[in-house]
Amino acid sequence: MAAAAVGRGRRSGGMGMAQALLVVVVVLAAAAALPASLAVTSPYVRPPPRATLSLLQDADGQTPQQVHVSMAGQDKMRVSWITAGDAPATVEYGTAPGHYTRSATGTTATYSYLLYRSGNIHDAVVGPLRPATTYYYRCSGSAAREFSFRTPPATLPFRFVVAGDLGQTGWTNSTLEHVAAADYDALLLPGDLSYADFVQSRWDSFGRLVEPLASARPWMVTEGNHEVEKLPLLEPTPFKAYNARWRMPYDVSGAGAGAAVPPPSGDNLYYSFDVAGGAVHVVMLGSYTDYGAGSAQLAWLQRDLAAVDRGRAAFVVALVHAPWYNSNEAHQGEGDAMRAAMEELLYGARVDAVFAGHVHAYERFARVYGGKEDPCGPVHVTVGDGGNREGLAGKFVHPQPAISAFREASFGHGRLEVVNATHALWTWHRNDDDEPVVADQVLITSLAANPACNNRTNHKM
Ligand SMILES: *[C@@H]1O[C@H](CO)[C@@H](O)[C@H](O)[C@H]1NC(C)=O
Ligand SMILES: *[C@@H]1O[C@H](CO)[C@@H](O)[C@H](O)[C@H]1NC(C)=O
Ligand SMILES: *[C@@H]1O[C@H](CO)[C@@H](O)[C@H](O)[C@H]1NC(C)=O
Ligand SMILES: [Fe+2]
Repeated sequence: MAAAAVGRGRRSGGMGMAQALLVVVVVLAAAAALPASLAVTSPYVRPPPRATLSLLQDADGQTPQQVHVSMAGQDKMRVSWITAGDAPATVEYGTAPGHYTRSATGTTATYSYLLYRSGNIHDAVVGPLRPATTYYYRCSGSAAREFSFRTPPATLPFRFVVAGDLGQTGWTNSTLEHVAAADYDALLLPGDLSYADFVQSRWDSFGRLVEPLASARPWMVTEGNHEVEKLPLLEPTPFKAYNARWRMPYDVSGAGAGAAVPPPSGDNLYYSFDVAGGAVHVVMLGSYTDYGAGSAQLAWLQRDLAAVDRGRAAFVVALVHAPWYNSNEAHQGEGDAMRAAMEELLYGARVDAVFAGHVHAYERFARVYGGKEDPCGPVHVTVGDGGNREGLAGKFVHPQPAISAFREASFGHGRLEVVNATHALWTWHRNDDDEPVVADQVLITSLAANPACNNRTNHKM
């Protein structure tokens, strides 16, 4: 069955939460009766981008700052933080505030970039941890700041936030406030984090801006073009700051305990991980490192998807930066080469959804494959609308292609709630003048649970 697709084409400013919920319920009830493609271009017009925020330094050299956490295997979390001066790479943690029963020590690294020298970038892996449990922790032995995170649940339901192209403007702040206003289990970021754009101190201010959220729930990221930061002759190594600051579980990649574990990707620029006891497999792809024939990434993706057991993984989702489907005038065709290299693999593995960033707007497509609507292809969604300083991509291609179900140039974020083994609810929340508004939603059914898509005689593998 194709995803039941609905789009709300008009601005719903001033709508209260209860009304918004009612709309979701009504729209969902109506969804089954609607055709799969309902091409909608929203007429909503946004105000211009807001000013870049300025975030002050933390007080002293030993106080941890820019704390963020990420999943590191089935029952472990990686804590990453920075101190201006020398401090131990130690995390003390426990299930009650101020009562740290365990500790873990990791490693510290620094990098330099032109005249900039980073602080001490620490990371330590804590665990094994219990699922869906709040842990309190402190870093580098500093009593000045206590943090807490909640581990993801080991079973469905599972709630993801998906937000791309964040940057650090007033609009980013608005997006983060809306993200924080409703609970979630993990955040997925399809590239373009800080918009530091070679000015390394902006990586630090971005780390401080996202810390309240990123220290409390795992933030799983992949790279965008703004992470490359390569300068001919002067800084020939790409992703220097990104790899140093946002280390992801590329070395513990794959399905988890009890299943065939595919080899880790071995590269921070692409990796995969499981949540909800393997009910959801998330593939984080790298749009700005080799993906073509003969590349290490393509070989890894083949191994990774081959090892996914769709009897267990009810949903498989992938993230890229440059969208493979895009009817915005911005960045037309930039995802085409990657799509040519990888789309068939994803289709063969019955990937349910592909999330992208890069284009600073929201757009949701029908289930597509090979440029056409296909009931066994993934739903493609662009959520490059986190709030960065470059502003919105407001010009769409006309006429709207039939496969484009809903598109709008506004800031916002998305949520994917995997409800059970057959259904996931995708919603997109526009930052409607500082009020969160549900502007688009779709119920996505698992392709693994669809017999018509698992019949090797009637589709190309
Ligand atoms: C973000 O917005 C909130 C509420 O509007 C405000 O209190 C806070 O200071 C803002 N944060 C920054 C870094 O500007
Ligand atoms: C899964 O969730 C969907 C949507 O909420 C619901 O209609 C369906 O009955 C659920 N399936 C099971 C087996 O609970
Ligand atoms: C698989 O495809 C064949 C040929 O089209 C058809 O006869 C069969 O019923 C299909 N099986 C399922 C489970 O869809
Ligand atoms: Fe981008």
